[in-house]
Amino acid sequence: GKGEYEHYMLKEISEQPTALGRSVSGRTDSARGEVTLDGFPPGAFDGIERVHLVAMGTSYHAAMYTESLLARRGVPARAYMSSEYAGSPPPEEDGTLVIAISQSGETADTIAAVRAARAERTMVATNVVGSSLTRECDDTLLVRAGPEIGVAATKSFSSQVATLSLLSERIRRDVIGEPSPDAEEFLSALTDLPDHVRQVVESDAAERVADAFADSESYFFIGRGPGHAVALEGALKFKEITYEHAEGFTAAELKHGPLALVTEETPVFAVFNGGADDTETLGNATEIRARGGPVVAVASGETPDLEETADRVLSVPSTHPELVGVLANVQLQLVAYHAAKRRGRSIDKPRNLAKSVTV
Ligand code: M6R
Repeated sequence: GKGEYEHYMLKEISEQPTALGRSVSGRTDSARGEVTLDGFPPGAFDGIERVHLVAMGTSYHAAMYTESLLARRGVPARAYMSSEYAGSPPPEEDGTLVIAISQSGETADTIAAVRAARAERTMVATNVVGSSLTRECDDTLLVRAGPEIGVAATKSFSSQVATLSLLSERIRRDVIGEPSPDAEEFLSALTDLPDHVRQVVESDAAERVADAFADSESYFFIGRGPGHAVALEGALKFKEITYEHAEGFTAAELKHGPLALVTEETPVFAVFNGGADDTETLGNATEIRARGGPVVAVASGETPDLEETADRVLSVPSTHPELVGVLANVQLQLVAYHAAKRRGRSIDKPRNLAKSVTV
């Protein structure tokens, strides 16, 4: 049951430290920069040359996040919406690994993508033991988030990203022949992630931001790299449960069109990774403010000059730049939750939607 919580969604947001602990525990040796995943011993990905990630909705955003983790590790990777992949699967090539990502393991579009794939191997990262996709794929990697009841996916996203972070490092080892140069820092940041998420869940900053922008016309979300995946996910969560218009973009895309929509009535949530690409996103935030758009920065202390560039800051603990996005996403989950609650929405069962889309 929901216990002390008013909604499953809030319960599941609050459970993320525990869920992430389960996703990561026993799977790393950060002192040696090693990952140990049951069923995927060293050499398990020998011969793999590229990765295709297939998924829908929130899981597609985890796929985009993983695409950037793999690319930064020198492993060619591409995220596809399952339905598009099923409709026109890329040609057969040796060395292709297809990774399906699905909380439920029952999403019809993703099952169709795996069936259409002309790949050397298929695997699924799923939260549900024995689900259809575990039978369709050659291998299974469990995400271990625990049961998710709310239609809005929350803890499953964080646990997917954590699990696929480990997998990305494991694949990199086999494909490139050595760990990432910063594997130790990355794995130790993953180990600290539950604690960092707890700090975000315990803050009330997101609720204050949801209140401050309760009467806006549209809500925009921008970011780059992993922050782009988080921007799209922030917008999906927001529209799904508040029924307000929300859209996510890559930060660079704005001046190619969407900037025309920006006014005082359109707050823009800017996701910062806490790395070298922050400078460009700060530039984009400045352009938004110059058009009167309120900017809410979601950022760690590593990002400079936020006082001058943002109207409000949703801060997250400092961590490895590839993991700040997970923390930023928790802030955006909380913003969507409080915005939906203010509007009296049916948070756990939004209109027109089902928890798992099996047709
Ligand atoms: O079970 P899956 O992860 O395959 O589900 C995919 C999407 O249907 C799902 O993530 C959906 O977008 C969520 N309701 C988003 O909160």
